[in-house]
Amino acid sequence: MRIILFTGKGGVGKTSIAAATALRCADLGYKTKVYSTDAAHSLADSFNKEIGSVDTLIKKNLFAQEIDVNEEIRKNWGPIQGFIQQFLKYRGMENLIAEEMAVFPGMEEVFSLLELKNRFAQEDFDVVIIDCAPTGDTLRLLACPDIAKWYMEKIFNIERKVFKAVRPVAQRFVDMPLPTDDVFDSMEGLYKNLIGIKEVLTDREISSIRIVLNPEKMVIKESQRAYTFLNLFGYSVDAVIANRILPEEIKDPYYRKWKEIQAKHMKEVEASFSPLPIFLSKFWDQEVIGMKQLSRMAEDIYGDKDPTSVFFKEKPMEITGSDGCYDLYLKLPFATKEDLDIWVNGDELTIKFLNFKRNILLPRALSSLKLKKAEFLGNVLKVNFGGDDHGRKV
Ligand SMILES: Nc1ncnc2c1ncn2[C@@H]1O[C@H](COP(=O)(O)OP(=O)(O)O)[C@@H](O)[C@H]1O
Ligand SMILES: [Mg+2]
Repeated sequence: MRIILFTGKGGVGKTSIAAATALRCADLGYKTKVYSTDAAHSLADSFNKEIGSVDTLIKKNLFAQEIDVNEEIRKNWGPIQGFIQQFLKYRGMENLIAEEMAVFPGMEEVFSLLELKNRFAQEDFDVVIIDCAPTGDTLRLLACPDIAKWYMEKIFNIERKVFKAVRPVAQRFVDMPLPTDDVFDSMEGLYKNLIGIKEVLTDREISSIRIVLNPEKMVIKESQRAYTFLNLFGYSVDAVIANRILPEEIKDPYYRKWKEIQAKHMKEVEASFSPLPIFLSKFWDQEVIGMKQLSRMAEDIYGDKDPTSVFFKEKPMEITGSDGCYDLYLKLPFATKEDLDIWVNGDELTIKFLNFKRNILLPRALSSLKLKKAEFLGNVLKVNFGGDDHGRKV
């Protein structure tokens, strides 16, 4: 199975390109499924068809779904939500507000990704295409398994043991609600699901992320940040799709300036994302809606290429070396020394990039060594292990 995620800033054309790609895959004979993690479902508008909360056959080989996240949330989050609610009420929060607070932002997307896990277990599609929410949310969403993993391993395991021992006694002395086994079980289940998703999404043979952008300054900036972030978390970006490119045939003087601006920005896109392949998608003379136009769009983007190919295979992180001296290479384009903070604590390397923090569990061979030096070689952060001095370096 192949999983292809389309991400990018709001309005750049993710939904249209995801739909066009799905259509092309189906036409090539792959059993294809397309769905959106964006709460503002717009696939239905894009295909100009009604799409249900279960798999809806759109045309031969092509299924779409508007996921009912509430169902997933009830299943996975119910007991945890109940506990948080109880706890907040105990702290004097009004019932209604406590209910609101027990659902965190971005949760809908997390649970629509859980749906992907179910899909994957069933393995009944050749290709799954995911139209992701605007970049910020997607990034948080994709970091979620990592963050959950950290909490589970560092805090939760200890807490659970402590709670098991003290709960029967403690509950007699405090009236504060304490989490029951039910809550712990739900958290563990949710955690396992998230880790499962992360495994699938970081498997480069299976999953690829494609960044959709427009040749505009702000959009490019945001896409660059997204790319660094995705590399940092081990996700594989295999292409960039530049959408809304004014085509050659437009000669209207009104657009001459726009064409110059786009050409300038495209140079920047090429310089920034090379050697990632960059697909161009032209600005059509109307909205891209319905099968005919989506098919035209796919033809324009992919030509005779198969959209299910893995277009770029380089790994963002690699570890080389032997005998007490190792180097960890992490491709972090667009990051600068000032944006980064790096330290080792026990068996964990922490890399902080702007607001994002990645904890990399070091392989045993490295964790017994000391962090010696960290430097940028072009786009690549090189972290050297094996020296004597320990601690913060960059
Ligand atoms: N290349 C294009 N040419 C013309 N219209 C486009 C193009 N790409 C997207 N659109 C239109 O722009 C609007 C926003 O696109 P959409 O795919 O919904 O963006 P996103 O999912 O990134 O928010 C839609 O009305 C879509 O039909
Ligand atoms: Mg959309």
